[in-house]
Amino acid sequence: MKNILITGGAGFIGSHLVRLMVNKYPDYRIINLDKLTYAGNLANLKDVENMPNYEFVKADICDFERMREIFSEYHIDGVIHLAAESHVDRSIRDPFSFAQTNVMGTLSLLQVAKLAWDGNFDDKLFYHVSTDEVYGSLQPDGGFFLETTKYDPHSPYSASKASSDHFVRAYHDTYGLPVKISNCSNNYGTYQFPEKLIPLFINNIRHNKPLPVYGTGENVRDWLFVEDHARAIDLIFHQGKIGDTYNIGGFNEWKNIDLIKVMIKVTDRLLGRPEGASEKLITYVTDRAGHDLRYAIDSTKLHEELGWEPSLQFEEGIEKTVKWYLENQDWLDNVTSGEYMNYYKEMYHV
Ligand code: NAD
Ligand code: DAU
Repeated sequence: MKNILITGGAGFIGSHLVRLMVNKYPDYRIINLDKLTYAGNLANLKDVENMPNYEFVKADICDFERMREIFSEYHIDGVIHLAAESHVDRSIRDPFSFAQTNVMGTLSLLQVAKLAWDGNFDDKLFYHVSTDEVYGSLQPDGGFFLETTKYDPHSPYSASKASSDHFVRAYHDTYGLPVKISNCSNNYGTYQFPEKLIPLFINNIRHNKPLPVYGTGENVRDWLFVEDHARAIDLIFHQGKIGDTYNIGGFNEWKNIDLIKVMIKVTDRLLGRPEGASEKLITYVTDRAGHDLRYAIDSTKLHEELGWEPSLQFEEGIEKTVKWYLENQDWLDNVTSGEYMNYYKEMYHV
């Protein structure tokens, strides 16, 4: 397999995956296709932009004719599909753009791959990157999400991702398209857009701004270092079974409020502030509509079948992450200027 199309490669997880693939597989041509929405940022890939096996194409996955041209021009053998609208809060405010990109965009891309490969599926693969949010919400003592857990999405974001997963399986079952799907838990790490909890809060602590905790702060998320997600995608892409689904997660559950206190502790220490100084910034705000209580992934299948396990303990990962955002204030300043401030003001009523 030689020509690999990675969609959404200028985003948070996509940029880590592109970096891994470009460095690890000099014989592959890695084509990063991204529309460069507010969340896409080529500055995330400065270190690979001049590599001979890397190319960037600015395009919209929803543009069927353009995607057909790209498949033909680059002789695409494999797709790793990450392009999506990814933020739950934005999906509550604008569900249509989530249906457009995540559902229609994925369907369009499946059809483009089917037509381009024209029944000759040898060494072809369509790998769809999805989320644990399709499984719904767990009670505190409600066990874990398995690959067999029934879909029960609650937000427009998770409904759109669930729908896209169904279309991917439908193309496999109906047309024989070789597909794989993975459903991963919450990612954290470098280059994450600061609308998401961890980079938003690090940035706010840095600037002594309020930390808006939704509801009671009791909601639980299962956090995985983004580079471990990228490693899992690489492994599944190469060694996973066609037609199968793999859950990805590191058995690392945190109540939001406990995680926030860890972030405060680490950030205060790195900024040279007294321990706990920024706890006064914690501000409980109106809960997210339809806020899922708990996510928890069981990734035993991935571990037992493919030998994957996370490389980092959470304490080490969060330390690296906070340090990176504090040392890369320019990157944060760039992405938080302009349109971001309008979003921030509307979202947090400031
Ligand atoms: P992100 O928002 O950081 O990046 C999304 C990227 O997709 C951006 O570069 C954006 O420009 C691009 N994009 C959006 N619409 C596009 C379009 N129509 N055509 C081409 N490109 C388009 O998202 P992320 O957090 O990196 O998530 C990547 C994927 O992983 C998504 O499919 C998401 O559902 C999934 N996922 C995310 C997490 C997480 O914790 N962030 C966890 C599990 C799964
Ligand atoms: O589980 C995987 C999913 O994780 C991915 O599919 C999504 O793309 C990704 O955005 C993430 O979704 P969450 O909604 O869990 O992530 P977020 O960072 O937005 O929120 C994490 C938790 O923190 C959630 O319980 C809501 C809460 N929160 C979030 C923000 C932005 C707050 O309390 N305050 C905030 O300001």
